[in-house]
Amino acid sequence: MENSLRILSGMRPTGSLHLGHYHGAIKNWVNLQYEYECYFMVADIHALTTNYESTRVIASSAYEMVVDWLACGVDPSQAVIFIQSEVPAHAQLHLLLSMITPLSWLERVPTYKELIEKLSTKDLGTYGFLGYPLLQSADILLYNSKFVPVGEDQVSHVELTREIARRFNYIYGREAGFEEKAREVIPKLGNKRAALYEELLIQYQQEGALEALEKARFLLKDAVNLSLGERERLFAFLENKSRVILTEPQALTTAASKLPGLDGQKMSKSYNNTLMLREDFEQVNKKIKSMQTDPGDPEKCPVWQLHKVYSNTEVKEWVQIGCTTAGIGCLDCKKPLIESIQAESAQFKERAKPYLEDHNLVRNILADGAEKAIETTEYTLSMVKLAMGIKY
Ligand code: TRP
Repeated sequence: MENSLRILSGMRPTGSLHLGHYHGAIKNWVNLQYEYECYFMVADIHALTTNYESTRVIASSAYEMVVDWLACGVDPSQAVIFIQSEVPAHAQLHLLLSMITPLSWLERVPTYKELIEKLSTKDLGTYGFLGYPLLQSADILLYNSKFVPVGEDQVSHVELTREIARRFNYIYGREAGFEEKAREVIPKLGNKRAALYEELLIQYQQEGALEALEKARFLLKDAVNLSLGERERLFAFLENKSRVILTEPQALTTAASKLPGLDGQKMSKSYNNTLMLREDFEQVNKKIKSMQTDPGDPEKCPVWQLHKVYSNTEVKEWVQIGCTTAGIGCLDCKKPLIESIQAESAQFKERAKPYLEDHNLVRNILADGAEKAIETTEYTLSMVKLAMGIKY
């Protein structure tokens, strides 16, 4: 598959997942795995950046989380599932990128100050914690991942990644004789196209004509007798840019529906308002029955937010009408919801079963995943080393 079709995403090992994780992220992963070459990573080194003093549960949380990914339908025959620390290139690229990363860039990442304040009981004045977004950049860049499915809170990390890639390409992507080399390739386009390319080049570079840039890009895409490297060189020359060694990624925040917690706030373990993916049937019943409601006003009621995700049009109409006319009570309204969530969790349990019975299945999936990820990342790492002058 082409590089542009690769996607990496990751999650810290938090143990069993709740429905917020499913509707906010994993459901999206499951769809993406059929369209892209997906790599899904357990970000265990990331967990160390904030939890370095209590690491006892990291490994078991990683296993539990992977079981839940599988229960959600992440399919190891479609996607590569692996643990970050088992793929050494993540640590290596992080170190290499740290050489060109200005401290100020890390200090101004919004999550840095926020988390230091939020987790004020922990000492986060560490080198590892400051470098944590850069580790994420290394994760992403290793796979030439064009898109990165993340939550809103992670967008600034993807932005940093773009800046790092740009800086890297700028510093290391300009070979000696950049222009001469590009000029040597132009005649290979054939007389007519070569002339057109030169014309468009001037229009874009001297007059900033964006249509000229677009046209020239098209021309290069269609040119058949160029090697990949030659084509890339002409693309780069066009924008007077360096060679692209690391791809600038784009955050992909679409398509994930937000599922609120039982109290209407964001669903989160720390708010104690979750429904777990494989929640016990009776617990689903109890938790939903005891949810606070706002009778008469669906828009203000957290139960309605759940209906929006779980119910079909017919049920939703029944709720809207019944609620606003006091035709149904809150317990009636909750009933179909309880049934849908129980049905869904039955499916999750069914899918998780083989993995809970035989831990070796998960071990094998992760071993295979690490092997594939190692193969993919070795290529990027050697390009980076070559560019940085340390390939022997
Ligand atoms: N930082 C992310 C989080 O805390 C997890 C993560 C690590 C990640 N590396 C990544 C997400 C790479 C996307 C891409 O949720």
